[in-house]
Amino acid sequence: MIIEPKTRGFICLTAHPKGCEKNVLNQIEYIKSKPTKNGPKNVLVIGASTGFGLASRITSAYGSNASTIGVYFEKPPTEGRPASPGWYNTAAFETQAHKDGIYAKSINGDAFSHEIKAQTLNLIKEDLGKIDMLIYSLASPVRTHPDTGKRYKSVLKPIGDTFTNNTVDFHTGIVKEISIAPCTDEEIDNTVAVMGGEDWQMWIDLLKSENVLSEDFKTVAYSYIGPSLTEAVYRKGTIGRAKDHLEATAFKITDSLKAINGKGYVSVNKALVTQASSAIPVIPLYISLLYKVMKEEGIHEGCIEQIERLFNERLYDADLQLDEAGRIRVDDWEMRDDIQAKVLELWQQATTETLPDIGDLEGYKTDFFNLFGFNVEGIDYDKDVNEMVEIPGLQ
Ligand code: NAI
Ligand code: NA
Repeated sequence: MIIEPKTRGFICLTAHPKGCEKNVLNQIEYIKSKPTKNGPKNVLVIGASTGFGLASRITSAYGSNASTIGVYFEKPPTEGRPASPGWYNTAAFETQAHKDGIYAKSINGDAFSHEIKAQTLNLIKEDLGKIDMLIYSLASPVRTHPDTGKRYKSVLKPIGDTFTNNTVDFHTGIVKEISIAPCTDEEIDNTVAVMGGEDWQMWIDLLKSENVLSEDFKTVAYSYIGPSLTEAVYRKGTIGRAKDHLEATAFKITDSLKAINGKGYVSVNKALVTQASSAIPVIPLYISLLYKVMKEEGIHEGCIEQIERLFNERLYDADLQLDEAGRIRVDDWEMRDDIQAKVLELWQQATTETLPDIGDLEGYKTDFFNLFGFNVEGIDYDKDVNEMVEIPGLQ
């Protein structure tokens, strides 16, 4: 079939298998020339199909030849209806890995559930024995608690006061003010239940009790801080509470892994266009200004560049530096004083009329469509493609 983008609000309902494949192959190419010394060998990636998780899987496999098991929640294709992009990404990754003689298998289902955890545990036992790294890169709007069956929904709201600031609809380029009313206490708890560290801890507890974590095991989850501009809705809002919880969980995990000298880390990453971040108000305007400034400075990075730096200059570097709160920082370039000062200056000038010049709205849009395999260089979108792609390592 011919597959075209079909957008509704912040999501795209279609995905292009060839474009997704090209994105994955480009990331593999990038990593091949940047091996990780003493990198991981047996890696479990939760949230492995898109964004930072996919980049982590590729960096593990092609930076240090690691065997990877990926867990994700993606929609398979049906005749005439394309799959979700993470499906095509995973198919491309596993196909290439198998060609290159690299172990890669995956599980599609709800990582929050006991069932998917048990299935993953069995696969580790059967195929890998033990793992030395677990990447936790879930981004989900909902979580059904595996013990109680209660379904939690996360929200992106300020705490205490109404937040008012500008945002952009990146499809139309219209910059306008929005106001978001403060959340209730219950909404804070719900957001922490979905995006906090409880599920990460559950994975670690299970794998530890089943003795499948090797000596010197490491685990890392991803967090975000960002500028004062977005603070009220992000870091000091409901999602920030969840990130506080996630960060606190890293210390608890380290404590619980003393016997095997295991370590839990949080890495604070840069703001990037992903399916998760497109849905957050104000962030798209911030990102389009940030991209402009960082590209001008020659320090722009995507997911794969971020994770390559995380592995090679942080996690697997003998001299790992942490910030005052014990976190790994690869948002260091985003947060540089000169970068933030320029973004703030541009923010004050940003209107529907000025944004195309002072911001990188085009870069934002391109990255957004790229997530779904569209607008990818070198792909002929007029050509018929088979939507019924299989994932070779899917269990
Ligand atoms: P993403 O939306 O690209 O990836 C989410 C992944 O989680 C996908 O593989 C998806 O299949 C999987 N997933 C979602 N629900 C699932 C479920 N119930 N069971 C199994 N898998 C499920 O998101 P992104 O942006 O890569 O986010 C990953 C982490 O990085 C999040 O914690 C996010 O807060 C953090 N982060 C994101 C930044 C950004 O600007 N995008 C910046 C800094 C941190
Ligand atoms: Na991810």
